[in-house]
Amino acid sequence: MNTDTPPVCDYEGSDYRTRFWEGQGREYEDQVERIALRRLMPPTGHTLIEIGAGFGRLADEYLGYRQVVLFDYSRSLLREAQAHWGGDPRFFYVAGNWYDMPFVNGLFDTMVQIRTLHHAADAPSLFIELARIAAPGGTYVLEFANKQNLKAILRYWGKRQSWSPFAPDPVEFVALNFDFHPRWIRQHLQQAHFTPGKMLTVSHYRIAPLKRLVPTSLLVTLDSLAQQTGNWWQLSPSVFVKNQHPSQGQTAVSGTFFACPTCKTTLGDVENGRLSCPNPTCQRQWRVEDGLYDFKEPI
Ligand SMILES: C[S@@+](CC[C@H](N)C(=O)[O-])C[C@H]1O[C@@H](n2cnc3c(N)ncnc32)[C@H](O)[C@@H]1O
Repeated sequence: MNTDTPPVCDYEGSDYRTRFWEGQGREYEDQVERIALRRLMPPTGHTLIEIGAGFGRLADEYLGYRQVVLFDYSRSLLREAQAHWGGDPRFFYVAGNWYDMPFVNGLFDTMVQIRTLHHAADAPSLFIELARIAAPGGTYVLEFANKQNLKAILRYWGKRQSWSPFAPDPVEFVALNFDFHPRWIRQHLQQAHFTPGKMLTVSHYRIAPLKRLVPTSLLVTLDSLAQQTGNWWQLSPSVFVKNQHPSQGQTAVSGTFFACPTCKTTLGDVENGRLSCPNPTCQRQWRVEDGLYDFKEPI
């Protein structure tokens, strides 16, 4: 476990779904993100995790997988996802902190992370932890907020913004909200032993007056075309990158799934509503209640 765990942006009890998405005029953003995701994510597979899945906005994109983990720090948002998908045996609802993932090594064929990296105060540690749980040859589709976007460049040149969009380090523009430079992201993914590949630029037309004037379907089509330029230049506010995990490495032992987030010892079956760490020096217990696996804090 990280002895010095970075701060977490806590969405517990948040109205994120109704405040940000439902009826809030973000059909354009939702649709262009789905297009990018479908272009980069293998459509079928065994085990997929969405890291920071929130209320499961994108869960219907994962139905080609046999096991789907919706992982988030917010129990309440996971309960909203469960209210929608609860009866589907493919879905697992797991609460925890992405710096201490409660899974065995080499488990996931596919990992997806969208609209969440901007809350990572320590993205390099997160990448290292995700590399641990990725299956050999697995795919990691990451979306991040791009600091080198056109609006930021114009604001910087017009002296309306102090920070440089060209400087590689992340910028924390509001507490626990970071924008990242594509070069910095690729470098830290490589340091975690991922191989960053295809990049797509997304949400080029996220401009309120344009969204009011131009039909959503046309903006979506135009964005879909522009996404393909992402390997050459990145000036959009959102960037997707597809990463490959090395094909050599440890595959999860068949039948294993959860591991203690603290000491990483493999956990057995649920007994009396809890998972117990068998490591004698740890012995932490984790609550499983109404289908939600809760690794936020031990019992
Ligand atoms: C802006 S929401 C995005 C949700 C979803 N990916 C979507 O696009 O609809 C960010 C999510 O990241 C989650 N999150 C933030 N920090 C986290 C952490 N350290 N561990 C796990 N989840 C975290 C929040 O709880 C929240 O649900």
